[in-house]
Amino acid sequence: MLEILECTEYIELILLNKDARMISALEQYDPQIYELLRQEEVRQSGCIRLIPSENYISKAVMIATGSCLTNKYSEGYPNKRYYEGQQVTDLIETVAIERAKKIFKADHANVQPYSGSIANLAALNALVEPGDTIMGLALSSGGHLTHGSKANITSMFFNSVSYEVNESGWLDYNAIEESAKKYKPKVIISGTTAYPRAIDFQKFEEIAKKVGAYHLSDIAHISGLVVAGLHMSPVPYADIVSTTTHKTLRGPRGGMLLCREEHAKNVDRTVFPGQQGGPHMHTITAIAVALAEADTAEFILYSKQVIKNAKRLSEKIMEYGFDLVSGGTDNHLMLIDLRKRNTKGKVLAKALDRARIVTNFNTVPGDDASPFNPNGLRIGTPAITTRGMKEDQMDIIASFINTVAENVDKDTVIEKVGREVLLLCSQFPVPEHFIIPTTKNAIF
Ligand SMILES: Cc1ncc(COP(=O)(O)O)c(C=O)c1O
Repeated sequence: MLEILECTEYIELILLNKDARMISALEQYDPQIYELLRQEEVRQSGCIRLIPSENYISKAVMIATGSCLTNKYSEGYPNKRYYEGQQVTDLIETVAIERAKKIFKADHANVQPYSGSIANLAALNALVEPGDTIMGLALSSGGHLTHGSKANITSMFFNSVSYEVNESGWLDYNAIEESAKKYKPKVIISGTTAYPRAIDFQKFEEIAKKVGAYHLSDIAHISGLVVAGLHMSPVPYADIVSTTTHKTLRGPRGGMLLCREEHAKNVDRTVFPGQQGGPHMHTITAIAVALAEADTAEFILYSKQVIKNAKRLSEKIMEYGFDLVSGGTDNHLMLIDLRKRNTKGKVLAKALDRARIVTNFNTVPGDDASPFNPNGLRIGTPAITTRGMKEDQMDIIASFINTVAENVDKDTVIEKVGREVLLLCSQFPVPEHFIIPTTKNAIF
């Protein structure tokens, strides 16, 4: 076999065989779940996924996520564990930490948070005491629940106040400074979940310094763009940076905290034992793989295309007469403001889903409708760009969205779009590998 196959092909064959064995075991022992998983795989390949927080991970990340590390308990940190048998886990977590520090240029990294939400809570707990005032972007302006929303535990632990975007949907740094002077928060949170424009983290730091606040920056959405050097990094300007690992960063579902050395002990203490028990070592393993993938020229090209696609999609959507919050995008996402049309976000999202275009309904700044039936639709390009779609396909997708929006009640039109979507998807199969295997990321 080795005589006729190149070494990389041989490795690939072994992995595929292993993968096939894992799949056939599931098929044998739990045919119902196997079948449901297969159906989901087919769904993901047969639709245009525009939810900006979703992506397709590589086979390498997928294999690491589903690996034997699921079996291991590793409470503690490398070389300071509460369970034995950590000969390998210590090395894997160290590799993940070093890769995170390298690509984000951070003093310290904690790769254990189970998710972005718990990472944010841990970051807040590392900086301030319960009852202290925190200030983040309002949910209705594109902030995240964990930035002090009334519905979230962060507003129960802390006294949460918020700032908002202006009428045109932009962050207004003068207004943020005014709010900071008025409320005197101990932490100012920068970062967003539904904001299409670039964020000036240096300005946030200046405002925080003026009022004696810490600066926590949540780059869950844009961390891939930051790593690729396409968006300002908050690392030099924030006390702590939190991120998810599964959005533009294209890793497994997880969270991560980066910080200045002075906060390292507090950050580690609040994650474990402060909030969590055993780290999910299978996720940390997959994070390590994803960080290596992000440390490549291919990832920079991918991230550039994510932004190019978002810009093109937003231009085309506006040409069809849709309003976009802030009039466009600088990053991977855009927010369609439907207030001037007689379709609500949820109605459009459901119609699009029937046409195999997956989005999420969202409030828009100044929206007086409830978050359950808001006037906006949030869409983004990370997943479709991973499939290799480019500007020409953005034109087609914009026309699909327009057709569905104009025919939300017409099943025959929606079904026709659905068939065209399938055809488009068939030209862009979900890829399994994004980078050329390398040893340059090895940590010794
Ligand atoms: C800005 C921001 N922070 C935090 C989170 C929470 O991440 P997770 O869903 O992993 O808890 C999200 C998720 O959408 C987000 O957009």
